[in-house]
Amino acid sequence: MSKRILVVGLACADIISVVQDYPEEDSDQRVLDYYWQRGGNAANTSCVLSLLGARSEFLGTFATDREAEFLKEVFQKYNVITENCVTYTDGVKTPTSIVITNSKNGSRTILHHGKNWPEIKPEHFKNLDLTQYKWIHFEGRPSCDDIKDMLLWIDEYNKTVDKDARIRTSLEIEKTTRIGLDNLFNTADTLFVSKDYVKSRGYNTKEEGVQKLSVKCREGSEIICPWGEEGAVAMGTDGILHSSPAFSPKLSPGQNMETLAAGDTFNAAFILSRSKGQSLNEALTFGCQVAGSKCGMKGIDGLDTFKS
Ligand code: ADP
Ligand code: FRU
Repeated sequence: MSKRILVVGLACADIISVVQDYPEEDSDQRVLDYYWQRGGNAANTSCVLSLLGARSEFLGTFATDREAEFLKEVFQKYNVITENCVTYTDGVKTPTSIVITNSKNGSRTILHHGKNWPEIKPEHFKNLDLTQYKWIHFEGRPSCDDIKDMLLWIDEYNKTVDKDARIRTSLEIEKTTRIGLDNLFNTADTLFVSKDYVKSRGYNTKEEGVQKLSVKCREGSEIICPWGEEGAVAMGTDGILHSSPAFSPKLSPGQNMETLAAGDTFNAAFILSRSKGQSLNEALTFGCQVAGSKCGMKGIDGLDTFKS
C-alpha cells in the first residue's frame, strides 16, 4: 500500500451564505444560497489530496458537538483517514467560520471563532508510526513552539532511515499575526507563504517576498508564494525564480466564482505533484491549474477530474 500524506492543523465548520451584493451593515437581505461545508486549511487540504488520488490523513482535534459529527462524516465521505485525531470531551466547541461569498467576484469574507481551541500536541504526534508517511504538512497554527517540536521530531526520524524512506515536510505560513511563525522558516523542506504574510513583512510583490524570505530557509528547501489571480512563484535549491500564471476557471453563464479554500487547494495539488517527484515548475503549474479550477466550482467535489 502506498505511503500516506499527513496534514496537521484545523478542521472547522464553514457556514456559508452566497450573496448577490455584499451586505451593508444593519441591512436585511435574502441570500442566493446557504450551506455547511468542512473548513480549516488542514481539513480542506487533506480532502483535496484525497480527491486527487493521494492516501490522505488529517491530524487535528475534535470536540463532541454536532459540528464535530458533521466534520467526521465529511472526512469519511472524502476517504480521509482520521484515526489519530484527538477528541476533547470537556465542553470545547468546534471552531466555526461564518463565510460570506460574494457571487459578483467570488470573494470570501470569513468571520472565524476558535477561541481556546486545543491544538494537537507533540505528545500526540510522537505516538504516530512515522514509517507510514511520505510527506507531512503543517498548517501554521498559533502553537508555533509545538509545531517546531514536531518538525524536529521528524528531522530526527529522518536521520535514522534510508534516503528513500525520509519524510518530506512542509509548513504553511499564512496568518500575519502569528509572529512565532517568523522563526520557523528553517524547520521544513517546503514553505508556503501567503500574500498577506509577504505584504505584512514589508515586501510588495511575490517575487520580492520569496527572494528575501528564502534567505531564512534551510539548505535544500523551497519556498512558494501563491498570489490569487497572479498565480504563484517559487524558489528552490537552484536559487532561480520559477513562476506559473493563474488559470481562470471556465464559468458557464450565470455561474459564480468561489475562491474559498483556493489556497488550501493549491497547497494540496503542489504537495501531491512534488511527492510524486515532479519538478518545482510542474508542481507550481499543477497547483495553479487545480486551484483555478476550484474557483469555478461550488466546494471541491469537481476536483476529482484531476485524479491520477
Ligand atoms: P487564498 O486566499 O485562498 O489563501 P490565494 O489567493 O493565495 O488563496 O490563491 C491560491 C491560488 O488559487 C493562486 O495561486 C491561484 O492559482 C488560484 N486562484 C486564486 N484566485 C484565483 C482567480 N480569481 N482566478 C484564477 N485562479 C485563482
Ligand atoms: C479557507 C479556510 C476556511 C476557514 C478559514 C479559517 O482557507 O480554511 O475553510 O473557515 O480559512 O481561517
